[in-house]
Formats: sequence, structure tokens, C-alpha cells
Amino acid sequence: MRISVVGCGFVGLTTGVALAHLGYRVHLVDINKNRLSSITEGESPFYEPLLDKMLMTGLKNKTITMGSDIEKAVKTSKFIIIAVQTPVDKGGSSNLSFLLKCSRSIARSLSAGKIIIIKSTVPPGTTLNKVVPILESDSGLKAGKDFGIVMNPEFLQEGRAIKDTLEPSRIIVGSLKKKHGEQVMSLFHSIDAPKLITDIPTAEMIKLVSNCFLATKISFANEIANLCEKVGVDVVEVMDGVGLDDRIGRRFLNAGLGFGGSCLPKDLSALIAFSRNHDLNLRLLKATESVNSAQPLRAVDLLEETLGSLKGKKIAILGLAFKSGVDDVRDTRALPIATELVSRGATVMGYDPLANENFQKLLPSISLKPSIKDALFGADGCIIQTEEKEFAKLRQQDFSGMRNRFVIDGRRVIQSPKKLTDFGINIKAIGLGDTKSVRGKGGSSAK
Ligand code: UGA
Repeated sequence: MRISVVGCGFVGLTTGVALAHLGYRVHLVDINKNRLSSITEGESPFYEPLLDKMLMTGLKNKTITMGSDIEKAVKTSKFIIIAVQTPVDKGGSSNLSFLLKCSRSIARSLSAGKIIIIKSTVPPGTTLNKVVPILESDSGLKAGKDFGIVMNPEFLQEGRAIKDTLEPSRIIVGSLKKKHGEQVMSLFHSIDAPKLITDIPTAEMIKLVSNCFLATKISFANEIANLCEKVGVDVVEVMDGVGLDDRIGRRFLNAGLGFGGSCLPKDLSALIAFSRNHDLNLRLLKATESVNSAQPLRAVDLLEETLGSLKGKKIAILGLAFKSGVDDVRDTRALPIATELVSRGATVMGYDPLANENFQKLLPSISLKPSIKDALFGADGCIIQTEEKEFAKLRQQDFSGMRNRFVIDGRRVIQSPKKLTDFGINIKAIGLGDTKSVRGKGGSSAK
């Protein structure tokens, strides 16, 4: 049985490789020739642990093939997964142009008995009101009767995408006809996870709402962190205590400099825009968004409170990706931080173990360094922006090249702040403020 995956971005490629690992023959389709040629070589176009290795295995044992011809892929596959991007438009709503274009191409060679699976994240109603009419009118076939249409959202996190695909928290399948939902669910028979079959708009909603809830948890933790700083309480300890209530849970209550990436900010704005079109003002989600816009600047304010004017100061940013362990800089909080530092007159140096090159494209004006030591050399202050393990292990000697040894721990990663303060390194941390009164521990995990 062959499965085609249309769109070899992060979600499509990971899904395809994971399905090949489960024993299916997978055909990857993308119109981007550069991307295809890198995949042909067994190299993922982005950094993701395990992906290259599993891709190479699939290529070697020929369970993975690829090409750019959608129509041919549709003709030779029983299941066609659409995993094209649905970026955010200027007004905040989802841009469906790639999805609709791809649906048109699929419809041209659609024949009876196929099952189309939408994996792209879309606002509720998109599949039934926008995708199905195209598939039906361009193919002359009837959805639910001649071909199956199913929504199967993904819940994988970058940096652990293969694990999340093979050991998911749940599998959700929304379908027009139950039998097609069951057929798609049976693809995952070897995976032990809670499984739920719903209708299509419900599955679409589950995906968006999940990301919006995670975003809201983070903004909530960040608001509380800002309060904790004022009263000398450690937000890490507070959330450790709060999270012990299993109705609340500890995950995604790590205060920091806000959430970035290609998913949480985009899905939040998509659901707000979607609700606006339904005359509903989602005040809670708007607040989540506004807390998130302000939070990165908290690091810059903390710097200024100690250093005074930032004009002429050299500031290092450690961690440029949107989170640790990835090379993805989409919506990274490092961007508003660097931009604000520059606008307040500072010179900015940056370092990231994986994302230097991508960040340089985003902000060519800042100077990127090959190591922590190089980034800190001559700096008047530094901001830790991601939870990289190497930042958690920073020792006294790592700061020796700084002109002024002052650190903002924006992600609460420093494991022994007390040890560093004892050596005269001044540390301020989100949700803690002045570490002269350090009682907390660092190194919380966003996983
Ligand atoms: C997110 C969701 O976590 C996945 O479940 C979902 O499948 C995915 O979006 C998607 O829609 O494709 P991802 O974008 O990889 O995954 O990133 P997360 O690990 O969720 O982190 C997002 C941001 O939140 C990062 O900037 C991270 O630093 C921040 N974060 C996370 C916090 O500030 N605090 C936390 O406690 C957790």
C-alpha cells in the first residue's frame, strides 16, 4: 500500500519518514527542487534529531521515493497526505493558497477509492467548505462516496518530532464518513496511544485549540513570573508547586522570554482571526498574544535597570533559535530582543549552536560568533534566550572575557546561579529578579 505525502516541510517529511519506518511505502512530493535534491541525498533540509538517519534507511531499502509530480503520485497511491504550509496572512488569518493550489492538482488525477488526508493546520470548516468543493468540482467525484476525506492533525514538537510521531500523546482523525476515518486510523494500528475519531471541523478545532492552550499556559507563567520578580518569589518554585496538581500539570509553565516558532504564534493569531470572522472577540487569547509580545522586552528592561542607558554598550545574545535544539528561527524571540537592543543604541553579538546561519539571514546587521566565549568577549551584558544545555552549564571562567560580568537568564537555565554570584557575576533571571536572594533552581524543561 503506497502513501504519498505532498509537501516536504517539517511536518510532511517527518510524517513520511515515520510512516516508512512503520513499514509503508511512502512517496514524498514537493515542488521545491532544492529541497527534493537534499532529501534524495538523505539530508533533511532542516535539523531534526533521528530524521536524517531514518530517511537514509528508507532511501536505502526503497520504502521512500520522491518526486515533484503530484498527479503521478495521486494515481499510484491509496492515501494522499497533504502537509503543505498554511502561513499567517497580514491580517492574522491562515493563508490557504498553498493548500487550495495543491488540492486543485490532486483533483486533476483523483480517482475512486482514494483517501485524502489533510495534515496542514487549518481553521475549522476549511476542509469541508474550501478543499472538498475543489476536489469534487475538479474531479467530478463525490467526497465521502467516491473518495475519502479525512483530517489528521499533527501534535509534534520540533526537536523531538520523530518521537512525537511514533509515540504521540494521541491520534485524532476527523472524517466525513466513519469508514474512511477507521481506515486512516488503522494505518497507526501499531502505535499505542489514545485514539479519537471525530468529524472534520472538530479535528481541525482540536489542533488549533491545543496550540492556543499551550500558548496561554506559557503567557500565564510569564505574567506570574513578572509578579514574582516584584515580590522576591521564584517563579520556578511556584510553578513546580502549582504543577503538582494534575488538573494543571507542570509542562508548559516554564516562564521565559515568550513563545516563538512557526506554530504557537501562528495558530493563536489564526484562531483569533477566525473568531473575529464569527463576530466573537477572544479576549483571553488576545491577552495571551499581548503578554507574549511584551515578554521578550522584559530582558532588555532588566539589562537597562542595571546598566543604565544601553547606548554604546555591547550585548551578547546566547540562543538565537526559537527554542533549544533546533535551527529554526521563525518567530524567534531573539529577533525582537536584538532589534530593541539595536534601537536603544547597543551593539549586538549573538551565538547559537545550530541557528547562527539562519539568524544572520533574518538580521544581517548583528555580529554572529562561533562560540559562547567569542560572543561574550568584551560584552557589557548578556541575555540567555534559549534553554541550550551548554548555557545551563556555564561556569565562572566562561564569563572571564566580558567587560562587565552581567547575565540575564531569560530561560531559567543556569543550574547553579549561587556559584556564579559568589564569583562576582551579576545574574538577573526572569521570574526571580535579583539573584542575591537566590532560592530557586534553574534548568526547567520545555519538553
Ligand atoms: C508546538 C506544539 O508544542 C506542538 O504540540 C505542535 O504540534 C506544534 O507546535 C505544531 O503545531 O506543529 P513547537 O512549535 O515545536 O511545537 O514548539 P514548542 O516546543 O511548543 O515551543 C514553542 C515555544 O514556546 C518556544 O519558543 C519555547 O521556548 C516556548 N515555551 C515552551 C516556553 O516559553 N515555555 C514553556 O513552558 C514551553
